[in-house]
Amino acid sequence: MRITVLIVMLGALAASAASASAAASGPAPATAAFDAASAYLASPAAHVPRPAAIPQPRDNEPNQFQASLPIVINTWPFTDATRAAWASITTPSTSAVDAVEIGCTVCEIEQCDGSVGYGGSPNEDGETTLDAMIMDGITHDVGSIGCIKRVKSAISVARKVMEHTTHTLLVGEDATRFAVSMGFKEESLTTNNSISIYQSWKAQNCQPNYRLDTLPDANTSCGPYKPAPNTSNRGSSRYHTSPRINPAVGPGNHDTVGMIVIDANGNVAGGTSTNGASHKVPGRVGDSPITGSGAYVDNNVGGAAATGDGDVMMRFLPSYQAVRNMEAGMTPTAAAEDALRRIAKFYPNYLGALVAVNKQGQFGGAAHGWNFSYSVRNSTMSDVTVFSVTPLDAKP
Ligand SMILES: *[C@@H]1O[C@H](CO)[C@@H](O)[C@H](O)[C@H]1NC(C)=O
Ligand SMILES: *[C@@H]1O[C@H](CO)[C@@H](O)[C@H](O)[C@H]1NC(C)=O
Ligand SMILES: *[C@@H]1O[C@H](CO)[C@@H](O)[C@H](O)[C@H]1NC(C)=O
Ligand SMILES: *[C@@H]1O[C@H](CO)[C@@H](O)[C@H](O)[C@H]1NC(C)=O
Ligand SMILES: *[C@@H]1O[C@H](CO)[C@@H](O)[C@H](O)[C@H]1NC(C)=O
Repeated sequence: MRITVLIVMLGALAASAASASAAASGPAPATAAFDAASAYLASPAAHVPRPAAIPQPRDNEPNQFQASLPIVINTWPFTDATRAAWASITTPSTSAVDAVEIGCTVCEIEQCDGSVGYGGSPNEDGETTLDAMIMDGITHDVGSIGCIKRVKSAISVARKVMEHTTHTLLVGEDATRFAVSMGFKEESLTTNNSISIYQSWKAQNCQPNYRLDTLPDANTSCGPYKPAPNTSNRGSSRYHTSPRINPAVGPGNHDTVGMIVIDANGNVAGGTSTNGASHKVPGRVGDSPITGSGAYVDNNVGGAAATGDGDVMMRFLPSYQAVRNMEAGMTPTAAAEDALRRIAKFYPNYLGALVAVNKQGQFGGAAHGWNFSYSVRNSTMSDVTVFSVTPLDAKP
């Protein structure tokens, strides 16, 4: 219902272009968010070049800037996602959950940096699978999907899990079956680009990959793999003392859109969508659909969302930690930095980042191991602002 208003508004901008865009990006699943996201992308407001990133304002003092609501914040310079969510949340009667779903859907359609939506990050079998989550701060309700196959609209399926089941997380082929029953189209997520990523990986003996202690040796050979003999007692300690840098995550492979929206009434929603890590072991689910890891919201506090080496990050629930830190009185930046430092104690070389926003509309971000940037829109800004963050481990 609520999204209808936005569709009408955006539809007036570019009704015919909208259907052209939806057709160009493949057959559309029947969700209001997909229609709204497509309409947004067909409007003149979309596809504006990403603004240059400016250094994040320091916010380690309380109340470092006057702030108010609404606000949209998301990982990386995925500015079309931010703008679409802002257009939604500033439309009377749309909810923060709607805005998150629409914003993340924009990234799914745009295949943001190849790491969200179809056609990116093929697994060891060459298949793209998707993870997503949506969380409603009013009810503390969550819907997530992990490793869903052959359905493009990951966050919209997650929303259906939230609204049409009492479960939190569905995975794999059964998540696909659920999506089809909810009216989503089953279609291949493979593109020429994902085929070519897969083929060059095969051509270089399946390097890099995520296997450890296997026969044949995964450092030099493709599978199928069996466990190498005499490794049962050393796997975890070797991982611990010699952390393996995620071979597939880097500045050119940004990996996840994580978004928090707070509406004018202070209702908080969060969501994530990603196609995970390239060359992952089939069946792998990352941090994005894990409540408290990929994102977390609390209507009394605010919200946080994460990106990075999900296999490591999900062991620490950094979004949950950042929200609890804000509840304890930390500024958003300090809260995010503390959450990331806790991970670095165990994994000093991991790549990760967080965005955080409190109920006042103050926001911040933090990064570890890589240069991070994030996008924000509030009512003072005339457009999305992109902030860059120096990694904690590079700070003096
Ligand atoms: C928006 O964010 C900027 C920080 O870049 C801040 O100075 C401004 O006060 C914020 N506006 C609102 C309405 O919160
Ligand atoms: C994908 O590759 C095939 C075969 O090389 C080609 O015919 C087709 O046009 C390509 N599709 C796109 C969308 O580039
Ligand atoms: C593979 O490479 C890793 C990292 O360089 C190394 O620790 C490991 O001993 C190598 N061999 C196997 C069988 O994993
Ligand atoms: C595994 O450990 C046993 C007992 O220590 C040893 O006899 C055997 O040679 C080892 N095998 C390999 C492949 O290292
Ligand atoms: C981050 O960016 C700075 C400045 O462009 C650069 O010197 C530095 O090497 C980058 N750090 C990482 C970890 O990529």
